[in-house]
Amino acid sequence: MPTKIEKDVISGRETTGHEWDGIRELNTPLPKWWVYVYLATIVWAIGMFILYPAIPLGTRVTPGLLGFSSRAQAMAGFQEMNSLHAAQMQEIGRASFAEIKKNHDLMEVALTAGRTTFANNCQPCHGPGGEGRIGYPALDTDVWRWGGSLEAIQQTITHGIRSNDPEARNSQMPNFGGDKLLTPTQIEDVADYVMTLYGKAKPGVDTAAGAKLFADNCAPCHGAKAEGNRDVGAPPLASHVHLYGDSRAAVVAQITHPRMGVMPNWNQRLSPAMIKAVALYVHSLGGGE
Ligand code: HEC
Ligand code: HEC
Repeated sequence: MPTKIEKDVISGRETTGHEWDGIRELNTPLPKWWVYVYLATIVWAIGMFILYPAIPLGTRVTPGLLGFSSRAQAMAGFQEMNSLHAAQMQEIGRASFAEIKKNHDLMEVALTAGRTTFANNCQPCHGPGGEGRIGYPALDTDVWRWGGSLEAIQQTITHGIRSNDPEARNSQMPNFGGDKLLTPTQIEDVADYVMTLYGKAKPGVDTAAGAKLFADNCAPCHGAKAEGNRDVGAPPLASHVHLYGDSRAAVVAQITHPRMGVMPNWNQRLSPAMIKAVALYVHSLGGGE
C-alpha cells in the first residue's frame, strides 16, 4: 500500500512515511549538485581506467588507450638530458682549455661533470674537497709536485703517477735507510735540517751536519734551497704542505723508506673529455696555475 506523503508540522518538510514509535523520518534528499558531482567522478574514473594503465594483471597492468607509461616518460626525460649533455661533452672534448674557459655554458657543464666525477672517483683518496690527507696530496693548494697548470693536471690524471701506464709520471726517491746509503744517525741529522726548512726545527739543535748531508744527498733532486724539482717529481721540502706530515718522525720515516705513492691512470676509465672536465674542476679548487 503506497504511503501517503505527509508533511511534518514543525519543520514543514515532507516525511518518508516511515514511523517508529511515533517518530517520523523527514525526507531530506541529497542536493542535486552533489549527486551530479558524484556521478561525474564515477564517469571520470571509468574514463581514466580506459585511457590510462589501471587494472593489475599479474606482472603487467592494462595499458590504457593512451599508451602512457611513467617509466617511458622518465626515460624520455633522461634521454633528452643525456643528449644535451653528450653534445656539450663532445664539445668539451674538441675545444681547447682556453676555448672552454671562454664559453660560460661549456664551463658550467665541465665543472658540474668534473665535480660529480671527482666525488665518484677521486674523493676516496684526495678527500671530498680535494684537501688531501697523509699520503694523498691536497689538490686545493698552490704546492704541486707535478704542476698545477690545466695541461699538467690533465697529464697527471690521464697517465697517473707510478702507475702501469707507459707514459706515467715517474720518480724515485732513494731508499736511504733500506739500502744503507745513510746511517740512522745521519738520517736523524738530515731530518733535523729538513725541519728548519719550514720553521719547525727544535731550538738549539745543531744542523750543520744535516745541512752538509742535505747538500750532498738531497739537493740534486729537491734543489739547493729545497724548492723542489718538477722534472724529477721531487716535492718542495721548504713548504707548509707535506704529503707525509711535517713531524720529525714522519721525515725520518720518509728518508728511511720512501713511500712512493701510486696515482692511478684514468685513461682506461674516463673519456678524454671527462678527464678535461675533472682537470678544470681540480684547477678551480684554489691552487690552479
Ligand atoms: C688510489 C688513490 C688515488 C685516487 C683514486 C686518485 N688519486 Fe690522485 N694521487 C694519488 C697519489 C698517491 C698522488 C701522489 C703521488 C706522488 O706524487 O707521490 C696523487 C697525485 C695527484 C695529482 C698530482 C698533484 C701534484 O701535486 O702534482 C693530481 C692532479 C691528482 N692526483 C688528481 C686526481 C684526480 C683528478 C683523481 C680522480 C680522477 C685522482 N687523483 C684519483 C692517489 C690517488
Ligand atoms: C732521486 C731524487 C731524490 C733524492 C736524491 C731525494 N729525494 Fe726526497 N723525494 C723524492 C721524491 C720523488 C719524493 C716523493 C716520493 C714519495 O711520494 O714517496 C720525495 C719525497 C721526500 C719527502 C716527503 C715530502 C712530503 O711532502 O711529505 C721528504 C721529507 C724527502 N723527500 C726528503 C729527502 C731527503 C732528506 C733527502 C736526502 C737525504 C732526499 N729526500 C733525497 C726524490 C728524491
